[in-house]
Amino acid sequence: MEEQGFFYRDTWAEVDLDRIKNNVKEITGHLSEEVEFIAVVKANAYGHGDLQVAEAAMEAGASMLAVAFMDEALALRKKGITAPILVLGASRPGDVNIAAEEGIILTVFQKEWLEKAQDALQKDATLLLHIKVDTGMGRIGIRSVEELKAVEGLIEEDPRLDFHGIYTHYATADELDDTYFNRQLSLFREMLSGLNHQPSVVHSSNSAAALMHPDARFNAVRIGIVMYGLAPSMEIAPELPVELQEAFTLHSRIVHVKKLEKGEKVSYGATYEAPEEIWVGTLPIGYADGWIRRLQGQEVLVDGKRSPIIGRICMDQCMVRLPYEVPVGTIATLIGCQEQESISINEIANKLETINYEVPCIISSRVPRLYRQNGKVVDLNNSLL
Ligand SMILES: Cc1ncc(COP(=O)(O)O)c(C=O)c1O
Repeated sequence: MEEQGFFYRDTWAEVDLDRIKNNVKEITGHLSEEVEFIAVVKANAYGHGDLQVAEAAMEAGASMLAVAFMDEALALRKKGITAPILVLGASRPGDVNIAAEEGIILTVFQKEWLEKAQDALQKDATLLLHIKVDTGMGRIGIRSVEELKAVEGLIEEDPRLDFHGIYTHYATADELDDTYFNRQLSLFREMLSGLNHQPSVVHSSNSAAALMHPDARFNAVRIGIVMYGLAPSMEIAPELPVELQEAFTLHSRIVHVKKLEKGEKVSYGATYEAPEEIWVGTLPIGYADGWIRRLQGQEVLVDGKRSPIIGRICMDQCMVRLPYEVPVGTIATLIGCQEQESISINEIANKLETINYEVPCIISSRVPRLYRQNGKVVDLNNSLL
């Protein structure tokens, strides 16, 4: 593990782009050639780094990107990404001209939205659109064939609008029981059959659906979580037909080592009391980094040994009980491997009683990301230098 010199603190995340590329190739191997791989890089690529993941995914075979908001798409354009980018969420109709200028694809999710967007769109603009159909997720999307036909009509009549794609999103693709999934899929098919013309890109599947339901792939899939090497749910994890490699690890260096006598206390509230003579290390990571207070008691790896976080986690620091005295500067791995031991994102998610998706997302932007490429840690953060 080698750190680079663009930051001045002893905590960092490491994102393995080789693993992301391997995951993309592994997943692509299960799709037929005509199915496009849309890499979902919203939320800073699930906390992994939008530009770096987008480039890795495109290199490994993705042909399109998806984000949640226009700001995320614009950020990628600013960083030089020229690939097609679809905004999955609701954009403001008044912002359509910026999307048109930047060649960003927006989602039409209601007739009223489209009408307002048409009012705002400049005369000579071209706006690429995907229609979102709500087949049972209950979030955003067109809910009836009548509304879909009306929207398609408005798009067809307006030379500024390009009906590029149509899609839906499943609520239960990560569950083994496929009853609700199948209901959504047949509703989507029904909606598609109500169209005058099918657009060039038709997609419905997220990671779980793409891997578990080949019949729902149409001609594109939107892949997020499995590209990062994580299973969409524990329920389907054993059934996934792919070998995934987790890409995100988190590390810190012990900045202070001390011996506490029996009865001495640690951290706010003085709630932890040394049960005997112990060695304690201080890590420069806290809840402002996303290592939230609920992680008290969680173990980290020091010298290949599990070492629990003791006392309350502070905003910028936390303390661990060391297996024995170690030198200042020793690496503590909070997510990742050391020798034979490993702490997975799933372990942290279990501790937090949440899903693995949330874990890399909550590691805040204060934690610098390093990138591993071709087996080496590389500096892909030139803008920060
Ligand atoms: C509309 C939409 N499509 C695709 C995805 C990617 O899902 P996953 O990460 O499960 O592949 C998401 C993620 O939440 C989404 O909201």
